[in-house]
Amino acid sequence: MRVVSIVLWLLIGLPVASLLAQDSDRYRNEQDFLTPEFYKARREALRQLIPEGSCAVLLSAPVRNRSNDVDYPYHQSPDFYYLSGWTEPNSVLVVFKEAQRFNKGEVKDILLVPPRDPAKERWNGRRGGKTAARRISGADWVLTTESWDTLQLPFESLTKVLQLRLEDPRIAGNQDPLEYDGLLRSYRKKVDSASVSPDDFLLKRALTTMRMVKHPDELALLQRAVDISVSGHLEMMKALEPGMTEYQVEAVGEYVFHALGAEAVGYPSICGGGENSTVLHYTDNRRPLGAGDLILLDMGAEYHGYTADITRTLPVTGKYTSEQLAIYNLVLEARDSGIAACQPGNPFQAPNAAARRVISRGLQDLGIIHSADELKTYFMHGTSHYLGLDVHDAGNYGPLAPGNVITVEPGIYIAADSPCDRKWWGIGIRIEDDILITTTGHQNLSEKLPVKPEEIEKAMKQPAILNNSALKNE
Ligand code: GLY
Ligand code: MN
Ligand code: MN
Repeated sequence: MRVVSIVLWLLIGLPVASLLAQDSDRYRNEQDFLTPEFYKARREALRQLIPEGSCAVLLSAPVRNRSNDVDYPYHQSPDFYYLSGWTEPNSVLVVFKEAQRFNKGEVKDILLVPPRDPAKERWNGRRGGKTAARRISGADWVLTTESWDTLQLPFESLTKVLQLRLEDPRIAGNQDPLEYDGLLRSYRKKVDSASVSPDDFLLKRALTTMRMVKHPDELALLQRAVDISVSGHLEMMKALEPGMTEYQVEAVGEYVFHALGAEAVGYPSICGGGENSTVLHYTDNRRPLGAGDLILLDMGAEYHGYTADITRTLPVTGKYTSEQLAIYNLVLEARDSGIAACQPGNPFQAPNAAARRVISRGLQDLGIIHSADELKTYFMHGTSHYLGLDVHDAGNYGPLAPGNVITVEPGIYIAADSPCDRKWWGIGIRIEDDILITTTGHQNLSEKLPVKPEEIEKAMKQPAILNNSALKNE
């Protein structure tokens, strides 16, 4: 009997014990994650912005199914991450305006995370459990989601429950109480049984106010995402040559992103050659590149949740044609004017107005348009958006303020069959940089990346790590 139990322990107990004993923190090899103090301070700042007697309840983003039994790579809700640092799905965060009394004592916030589960972890990867959740978030009270159904939120002392717009259940009929659908059902039951009508406006507004002004610790991570992206763009400049495909150029950039530690791309890479350069969010990236084509590369790495958003438009041969150069210089002048308008106190639209003025005048000088009314035929998007945890980040589009990070990204897109001389057809050019608003002006976080035509042509002559022959499957 004794022998049997020892054998059983060796077979089952030891592997389980060793799995549980390992540092459960699967995504924290690096030392530069934001600290629990940072997340504590974010929740404290949120408390300053929400009404007396309220609490905020946030659910982690649902897992999204790709097909059959395969899900998309998981990405946490940026709002949830911003307040907790927690990157696992099937979790709940509750932030109280005032401390509330529970068995545990007074608490101002509760984080509920999936329980450790060696069998599930064997298939789907390590879970952090309560230990990692406490260490990462600094939350007052960390529970597993097994407690969510029975956890009594003190509705008698609360006047308002704030929530974000809740996504509908992921899989109709999913009965697992510890998955998103179950946690959501349980939340709705709590709210219904207390006859509370949740507010889904105030929390979004408070988080927008907070997220649009970056903390210096966030800026360090954002700068890292930008630096990695700059290296990726530079390598694409070096590698690009006729005979490559759009996806090979994309592969070079994304190789560098990952090689330098980025966890993901912040958005699907846009690599549009020739006519595809005129499609704003082109992501097929399957076409071969011809000599004489431009390729528009809008690509940003995501590092610890923060994403860059950078565009350069390159000549496939290494030299812009005279028509390409005329349009390029116009977009570059618009980009410079847009960046110059990035001053604290300026309206959010100031960079856009500056860029539009330059492009409108320039296109008229080139005879491509005849009046400012026609500008939107060739420049049909805004010039700036906020940047941070989301590529199109939270922000209220009010006057620019120190700590805002915005893009400046003018473009001109002349599709075939446009009502202008056909020599311009197929030219699509965007230049995009990431700009921090400072107390005295601005700082271009992506300024190290070549942008002047002669700088780009020079960079393209440099030897590449991943050249065309390394990319051939022969
Ligand atoms: N990469 C999308 C954008 O520039 O807004
Ligand atoms: Mn952008
Ligand atoms: Mn972009």
